[in-house]
Parts: sequence; C-alpha cells; structure tokens
Amino acid sequence: MRIILAENFEEMSKKAAAIVRSQIILKPDCVLGLATGDTPTGMYQELIKMYENLEVDFSEVTIFNLDEYCSLNRKNAQSYYYYMHHNFFKYINVKKENTYIPNGTAPDIDEECRNYEGQIKNKGGIDLQVLGIGANGHIGFNEPDINFEAETHLVKLDKMTIEANSRFFSSKDEVPTTAISMGIKTIMQSKMLVLLANGETKANAIYKTVKGKICPEVPASIIQLHPNATMIIEKNAAKLLLGQ
Ligand code: GLP
Repeated sequence: MRIILAENFEEMSKKAAAIVRSQIILKPDCVLGLATGDTPTGMYQELIKMYENLEVDFSEVTIFNLDEYCSLNRKNAQSYYYYMHHNFFKYINVKKENTYIPNGTAPDIDEECRNYEGQIKNKGGIDLQVLGIGANGHIGFNEPDINFEAETHLVKLDKMTIEANSRFFSSKDEVPTTAISMGIKTIMQSKMLVLLANGETKANAIYKTVKGKICPEVPASIIQLHPNATMIIEKNAAKLLLGQ
C-alpha cells in the first residue's frame, strides 16, 4: 500500500480529489465507490470546484455508495442518501440514474443487499473506491470481527460506532443500530482503493491498519493485501505511524 502524508485536512482533501479527477480523465465512464462521514467532505468540495472550473465531467460516471443506515427515510438529514445529494450530487452533473445508494428502508433488506451487489457487478465492478475509517478500524460499516468474505450485507453497528456517530443526531438513542454495507469482499474487488484519515482519533486505527497483523478485529487491515491501495493520512492521524 502507498502512504501519502498530508499536512492538514485541506491537503488531504485536495490530494484525494486529484486522484478522483485523474480516474475520471483516464476513464470518463468509470465507476466510483464513495463514502460519507466528515472525512471526505473537503474532497467533495474540491471536486465541486473542479467541476465548476470545467476540470472534470461526471456525465458518464457511475457512483455506488458504501453504506446506508437502516430505518432512516431518504429525506432524513442523517441518511447517507441525503448526505450525498446535499454534499455532492446536486452540485455536479452526475446523472441521477447513475447514482446508487443502498435503500435502508427496503421491505426485504437481504434482497436489497443482493440486488445492490448485482448492480455493482452489472456495471463491471468499481474502478476506484474512496474509504474513510472508523476509530475502531471499520471501513464502510464493516465492524470489528467482520467476515472478510462478506459481500453487501446487513450489519449490526458496533457500540463505538453508535457513540461516534451520535454527534450527528440529537441523541444516541436516535442512531440506527443496523445498516446495509458493502462487504469487505466487495471493497477488496475494487480495482483501486483510496483511504482517507484525518485527526488524532484515527491514529490508533491507522497504525493497526498499516503495521498490525491482518485480522477481522481491525477490518481495514485487509487493505494490506490489496494490490492497488493508497492511504492519504493527515499528520495527526499518522502520529503513531510516525512514532510520535
Ligand atoms: C461512518 C461511515 C464510514 C466512515 C466512518 C468515519 O460510520 N459508515 O463510511 O468512513 O464512519 O466517519 P468520519 O469520517 O465522520 O470520521
């Protein structure tokens, strides 16, 4: 895996956006896998600026999101559907029919998961998957003790994740306890991975991901086996890696 260190959030975001832009220039009809959370927000802003400056064109791009909470309506401001539309899609020229986010309120969640996985395969798989990382080492919503063989599936959220994500909700009780997530197998089948990490709360997870043994307790550690993975790590998130 390649490690790129960034001085700050802005530099991390610019580097990530530049990689996404390069992917679209190389293959205008590429399939992107995208993430939510605080970490990629700067990257989305950079990509929007690039789009406004005619440096990138999303008209042929397809986008699959990593995950979605179960039970939240798409209109709910905490749903990832809402997040993607309000942070990114409405500012660029991606076609609505080319954007895919799991439906967390589908009547049959297992069927929704199978369909989602099928849609990714029908599009030829993901060319570039952008990832954040949880403080417990999760990617997507693949929580510790994950089965590395899983494709898109229903997950039960870890206590630590519910705690961390409660900052977006008015109380911890409002955080959904389950979600749909691409599985580790789905993520590992992407042709390229770019993981972003920002802030000291991620330092331990980043250290274990890069230097630790590959184990289901640290889901992101599997990335060590990916043939084309890049991590863009802001300096506070890289503290333990740098021995600080
Ligand atoms: C969430 C998402 C992940 C995200 C992670 C980190 O639970 N499911 O896709 O990468 O947590 O979020 P943040 O970037 O806000 O720290």
